[in-house]
Amino acid sequence: MSKPVKKATVVVSKQQLSEGIFSMWLEEKEIADAAKAGQFVSVYCDSKEHLLPRPISICEVDKEVGRIRLVFRVAGEGTKEISEKEVGDSVWILGTLGNGYTLEGTKAILVGGGIGIPPMLQLAKELPCEKVIVLGYRNKDTFLDEEFKKYGKVVYATDDGSLGTKGTVIDAIREHNLTADIVYACGPKPMLKGIKTFAEELGIPAQISLEERMACGIGACLGCVCKSKEKDHHSHVNNKRVCKDGPVFYAEEVEL
Ligand code: FES
Repeated sequence: MSKPVKKATVVVSKQQLSEGIFSMWLEEKEIADAAKAGQFVSVYCDSKEHLLPRPISICEVDKEVGRIRLVFRVAGEGTKEISEKEVGDSVWILGTLGNGYTLEGTKAILVGGGIGIPPMLQLAKELPCEKVIVLGYRNKDTFLDEEFKKYGKVVYATDDGSLGTKGTVIDAIREHNLTADIVYACGPKPMLKGIKTFAEELGIPAQISLEERMACGIGACLGCVCKSKEKDHHSHVNNKRVCKDGPVFYAEEVEL
């Protein structure tokens, strides 16, 4: 894993994908060169009230031109400020951070829920095996799904049943009788719990990406720890730092 660098990037395109969801391509060659699926960057705000950078997962990478794509939801003042950047503006970011997914398996199910969907796009691009992509939304106001269709079959789950299976991504996996030898997932904790149980039932590995509140983003403040099965080498407690040891873990490594 290469050492994170703090760099000024330039916004080269910006688009609103759906209600409160924005897509931005940022130009910065060194970070794009290092980036892999499942990693994230910390994005700094200009205003002094938001000193802590916001962790945002990498949705796509274009190594040829040296760009990364971030897709994020406006969830507060910090992300609102970032969403207001325009083409040509500069944005400071620290990256790349976290470990990312390990590419493995011959038949995979990729599962993204809500704002856990964006990092699965780069994974879908990088993963060379057969794959089905299961996307969970609140309703039929979807985003990125058309782009996923280039890489595999897409199955939908929505909370209100307006598109695909009414219910959770697990309900959709069961309705379509999906099987695989590996599951990759990113989304809210209840969804990841369901994925962990599903993978255990099938006896297959699951790589899950945890969404945790973060502060430093580099493993220094312990503001993002989760419970782990094994003791941490440094602190000798059953903790792992999501920002540094993750955000991607094998499901059996962590307690959800
Ligand atoms: Fe500081 Fe993870 S955010 S250790």
